[in-house]
Amino acid sequence: MMKYKTILFAGILTSIFFSLNSAKAFHKDVYYPRAPEALLEILQDMDNPFPPTKKNIKEGNKVYFGKGLCVKCHGVKGKGVKVPGHSPRNFTDAKWQDVRTDGEMMWVLKNGSPGTSMPIRVGKVISEKEGWKVILFIRSLAGA
Ligand code: HEC
Repeated sequence: MMKYKTILFAGILTSIFFSLNSAKAFHKDVYYPRAPEALLEILQDMDNPFPPTKKNIKEGNKVYFGKGLCVKCHGVKGKGVKVPGHSPRNFTDAKWQDVRTDGEMMWVLKNGSPGTSMPIRVGKVISEKEGWKVILFIRSLAGA
C-alpha cells in the first residue's frame, strides 16, 4: 500500500514538473506563435478588412487608449509595462511586427493569450471592427 502511494506521489510531482516546464518553453521566444498551431495557416492568410488609412488608425488609437484598456498593459508607446507573469510584447520591435500577422493578433484579441494576463477583448469590451482597427494602430507603432 505504501509503495503505491509513493508511486502516485512521484507521478503527480512529475506531471507538475512537466507542465511547468512546457509553460516556460511556450513563452521563451517572443516570436513563437501565440495562436494554436492547427489554426496558423488560416490565420496567417487572413487579411485585415480595413486599410491603414489615417482615419482608421486614429479610430484604433481611440480604442487602444480608451475602452480597450490596452494602454494599461501595453503602455503609451506600445513597449509594454511590467505585469505579473509573461510580459507584453514590444509592439515597436520591427522583427516581431514582421513575424506576427493581423489574423494571429485577431485570434489573441478574441481568445486572450492562454497562460498570460492578456485578456479577451473582442466580443467582451470591443467589437471585431474595433479589433481590426486597433491592430492597424499597433502596426503604426513599428519602429517608433
Ligand atoms: C491586463 C493586461 C493587458 C491588457 C488590458 C491588454 N493586453 Fe495585450 N497582452 C498582454 C500580455 C501580458 C501579452 C503577452 C502575452 C503573449 O505572450 O502572448 C499580450 C499580448 C497581446 C498581443 C499578442 C502579441 C503576440 O505576440 O501575438 C496582442 C496583439 C495584444 N496583446 C493586443 C492588445 C490590445 C489591442 C489590447 C486592448 C484592446 C490589449 N492587448 C489589452 C496584456 C494585456
